[in-house]
Amino acid sequence: MKYEKEIGLRRTFAIISHPDAGKTTLTEKLLLFGGAIQVAGAVKSNKIKKHATSDFMEIERQRGISVATSVMSFEYNKTLINLLDTPGHKDFAEDTYRTLTAVDSVILVVDSVNGVEDQTRKLMEVCRMRDTPVIVFVNKLDRDGKYPFDLMDEIEKELKISLHPLSWPINMGKEFKGVYNLYDHTLNLFTASQKSTEENTLSFPDLNDNALDNYIGERDANQLREDVELLHGVYGPLDNQKYLDGKIAPVFFGSAVNNFGVKELLDTFINIAPAPRGRNTDKRYIEPGEDKFTGFIFKIHANLDPRHRDRIAFLRVCSGRFSRNTYYKHTRLEKDVRFNNPYSFLAREKDVIEEAFPGDVVGLFDTGTFKIGDTLTEGEKLQFTGIPEFSPEIFKELVNKDPMKTKQLEKGITQLTDEGVAQLFTQHEGHRKIIGCVGELQFEVIQYRLLQEYGASCSFVPLSFYKACWITGEKKAVEDFARFKQNNIMRDKDGNLVYLAQSEWFLNTERQNNPAIEFHFTSEFKTAKS
Ligand code: G4P
Repeated sequence: MKYEKEIGLRRTFAIISHPDAGKTTLTEKLLLFGGAIQVAGAVKSNKIKKHATSDFMEIERQRGISVATSVMSFEYNKTLINLLDTPGHKDFAEDTYRTLTAVDSVILVVDSVNGVEDQTRKLMEVCRMRDTPVIVFVNKLDRDGKYPFDLMDEIEKELKISLHPLSWPINMGKEFKGVYNLYDHTLNLFTASQKSTEENTLSFPDLNDNALDNYIGERDANQLREDVELLHGVYGPLDNQKYLDGKIAPVFFGSAVNNFGVKELLDTFINIAPAPRGRNTDKRYIEPGEDKFTGFIFKIHANLDPRHRDRIAFLRVCSGRFSRNTYYKHTRLEKDVRFNNPYSFLAREKDVIEEAFPGDVVGLFDTGTFKIGDTLTEGEKLQFTGIPEFSPEIFKELVNKDPMKTKQLEKGITQLTDEGVAQLFTQHEGHRKIIGCVGELQFEVIQYRLLQEYGASCSFVPLSFYKACWITGEKKAVEDFARFKQNNIMRDKDGNLVYLAQSEWFLNTERQNNPAIEFHFTSEFKTAKS
């Protein structure tokens, strides 16, 4: 396998959680270990500073929500870690789903007090769709949370995944004494410290050693012995393959804000998490070790600098070696493109890079040639799959408020929807535009950005549609249906026919009445489950 060494040294993952569970805090602590930042608080303060890597839209600064997905790369113990940040807010769920197509595994943060929450459930569903390997980090053990065994039951039941604890907490809240690492048999004693990257770790292969009582007290020592015996009986050793297959999730306990349990999470993560993996295309499966370069765009973002209109496309390298100043085939446009200044996200500086390998994320300056899901190759005509658009949940008609700026509005809405901010459906040769989003906040983002970046003002008229379904089937049946239902028929950006149903009842009725037509809930028909 070519580039075996480079591939083996890389780990590309995302941290996901319900808002407030501690994703940002954990991210920051991981970056501290990786030397990518020097002081605690740096990631947080990025939320409000102008030159942040992670959050750079004005609207984010106003609302303090991490809208953008960005990448933070750092080295730890000779491993190159690419950490893909995801927005926590539910209105930007699609952004998160797309980012998850570009990672090889995830760390899921669960708040020990709140347990499994709404977003945790949804994000886990997306991981399950792709069998993405998951490590669970139970956070906030310094607070009085749910009992660990109850929490494990809850996570298993709610997230429909088997768990395998690799560490176990000793008490919690004010009485929290630390964790016992079941993977390498060490006792990690808790000290509350937001700054330190040191952990107080003692090797403890035999828990019956009386010294344990001296460290954590007799009562907690006995409880730990009992718990660990039970855990060994129930779980046995970790079956790493099952983790890699997405069937078992190893669990760690800690307190991100106190930087506790983070190092052991990271150490185990680089040991067991998968190196960059292959991906499916419409033609064949691509192995990371193939000689020739392939990659896909999973995210497009407006430039950091609002004075420049160009955008940054995030490319995930899937196979071979990506090189600067080399022509690659943009397979959708059937056009050769090359990049003078591709950059990496190492540390917080953006550096121009000469090459990148599978698992890496490269930032490409884009003047409007990319859409989400676009594929680059060394000539082979193929398209990576698994980055579908899902049916939006809220639909509104776009109204131009300034006829003098029609062109700007057209251009702006096309570019914003290429970025994946929302979906655009059109009627009457493009004259009627309907925007579909997952959350209300996205409409605000669109309105704000159209004005700030394109000088176009718009408003939205709410429409009462329930779902968008891509329709396919026997040609005449589709044509007849489109004519008969013309008020509900739109085109998506690629010209595909979409039926907008007013309600579930309407959708079911149309399905029954039109057996020759298939109604799909995602834009990727071949793999779609409708
Ligand atoms: P998110 O990115 O998942 O939304 O969560 P974030 O890291 O911003 O954390 C949410 C809140 O939880 C923050 O408090 C953070 O300090 C706190 N937190 C994170 N880890 C722990 C932990 O291990 N123990 C406890 N007790 N709290 C934790 P905040 O008050 O919202 O923000 P801040 O003022 O502390 O920055």
